[in-house]
Amino acid sequence: MKRTHKCSEVTSELIGEEIYVSGWIHRRRDHGGVIFFDLRDEGGLVQVVYNPDSRDTFSLAESCRNEYVILSKGIVRERPEGTVNESLVTGRVEIIASELEILNASLPMPFQLDEHTSVGEETRLKYRFLDLRRSDMQENLRLRSRVSGSLRNFLNAQEFIEIETPLLTKATPEGARDYLVPSRTFPGSFFALPQSPQLFKQTLMASGFEKYYQFAKCFRDEDLRADRQPEFTQLDIEMSFVNSEEVISLVTEMVKKVFAETLSVDLGDFPRISYAEAIEKYGIDKPDLRNPIELLEVKDLFKSCDFKVFSEPANDPESRIAAMKVQNGKTLTRKQIDDYTDFVGNYGAKGLAYIRVEDPEKGREGLNSPIIKFIDDEILENLLSTLKIEEGDIVFFGAGKRNIVNDSLAALRDLVAKDLDLLTCEWAPCWVVDFPMFENNKSGELTPLHHPFTAPICGIEELKDSPLEALTDAYDLVLNGTELGGGSVRIHDKGMQQAVLSLLKIDKEEADEKFGFLISALEHGCPPHAGLAIGFDRMIMLMTGSESIRDVIAFPKTQTASCLLTDAPGEAAKDQLEELHIRFHGIDKEA
Ligand code: AMO
Ligand code: AMP
Repeated sequence: MKRTHKCSEVTSELIGEEIYVSGWIHRRRDHGGVIFFDLRDEGGLVQVVYNPDSRDTFSLAESCRNEYVILSKGIVRERPEGTVNESLVTGRVEIIASELEILNASLPMPFQLDEHTSVGEETRLKYRFLDLRRSDMQENLRLRSRVSGSLRNFLNAQEFIEIETPLLTKATPEGARDYLVPSRTFPGSFFALPQSPQLFKQTLMASGFEKYYQFAKCFRDEDLRADRQPEFTQLDIEMSFVNSEEVISLVTEMVKKVFAETLSVDLGDFPRISYAEAIEKYGIDKPDLRNPIELLEVKDLFKSCDFKVFSEPANDPESRIAAMKVQNGKTLTRKQIDDYTDFVGNYGAKGLAYIRVEDPEKGREGLNSPIIKFIDDEILENLLSTLKIEEGDIVFFGAGKRNIVNDSLAALRDLVAKDLDLLTCEWAPCWVVDFPMFENNKSGELTPLHHPFTAPICGIEELKDSPLEALTDAYDLVLNGTELGGGSVRIHDKGMQQAVLSLLKIDKEEADEKFGFLISALEHGCPPHAGLAIGFDRMIMLMTGSESIRDVIAFPKTQTASCLLTDAPGEAAKDQLEELHIRFHGIDKEA
């Protein structure tokens, strides 16, 4: 190609030189007989000017429209006084064009590339090739590439090796539904796409690779949200002969380094907080520590109170009463409080009691609250001194089943901080540790909080006796309220693995069928090992300040797991289905 310079390289040093530039016509302006193009390529914009004195070139320029791809020759000159654009690197110069070649025309744009917010996401995803031309999408994907480079450099320097693991494989028990791929050669059998490389990376440890990583594609057929995609990328790590401390400190150093290198951000300390403390103080195991609001357990104060809304949960071991004090919350209007009551209702809360502190000196008289009339003086006094209230505070209360109170107040905590602009800093990482091994699911069965290969801290007998009390050597990395990554020390002992599987009611036959190869690897001299996986898309979402991981993935799926660009998933041809021995029942598939 004849191009001699990228658009962004056209600066004052080139004044007087004849150059060639190529790119897209970002904006075309017709100024009374002179035509201006803001020409865009990968690196930026430059202004190209077409005067009527080069007649053929000018009339060609007149025929051009936005997003045509062109090549133009011209001489660089200083922009006339008053037309300098300081916001552009190239804003002091322009190119006076003498030649123009249209390399490719374009249909009119379905949306303006510089008007982001007004365009519906459906349109953006359908024309993703155009959406990706926008500068913010370009920057997001460029940062993504720089961050993956920086992570790779870090791990390579520490002598990790990158190993790819298969995509056509068997189910991985990470708790979501699998994406299945029918096998042609084994009629009626299916591959599953991996929910994570968990089983393979543990197997690699048994194979003698002591430091592994991989940028791994993972597939999970689950309900989608802003920070979840059915197909996403993990930075997956595993190490032999290490304990949780070593993994935590390596990953802390890695994440700090990558933020410093690519964003010039110092993430500061990574405090540790136990799962139990996180739930008690924030109602959630991925607390946003930029938010100063905390929950306080006040259940014990209401054991013998007449107010049923509080006394019932106070005497129920599965319930809690949490107080959430918001300093200077008095600016919240009645309407906002009503909206908050509706908001917590979405999480199953039956109401939202509150006390607004007008004048703490005046005791009961200085409070404004729909509930204090039900609370006697002694309890009220205890409550106020426990809460250490001050003038202008508002205290919200959640009372009821533990999970409802936790879920509703955790969400309210975020919302209030947003409404009152309470965040104290830009970045707040933390490690959440000491997770329980199991929890009860809705049907009362044990399910692992992480996955069944996570090592409990206790012995086999203790685990069997009181599985719900067992803690694990697992750790989650949380940044600004988003779970960025998670991992654990793994079980490398066959007896412990069997105990966990039997508590999960997975018998030997089922275990052999599902992941017999890993069990077999554990039986053949598998070293102690530990690891973690970082949600790479989530990391980039946070680093770019994006609202959704869709904005940091080149070709993401919609909320209903479809791709609007390619129209996937699509129907398969009849002969393909026949080869795969697939016939449909119950849905109308007229071939
Ligand atoms: P986990 O299931 O916690 O652990 O996943 C690790 C990290 O991956 C990210 N993540 C997702 N990102 C986008 N879309 C999704 N649907 C999605 N699901 C998870 C999260 C999460 O913290 N094998 C273990 C890791 C280990 O133990 O080493 C695992 O997959 O940021
Ligand atoms: P009620 O007796 O239902 O009219 O509720 C009295 C006050 O307690 C109202 O301010 C409700 O919003 C509040 N309230 C009711 N149920 C709960 C609950 N489970 N948790 C917190 N506050 C509640």
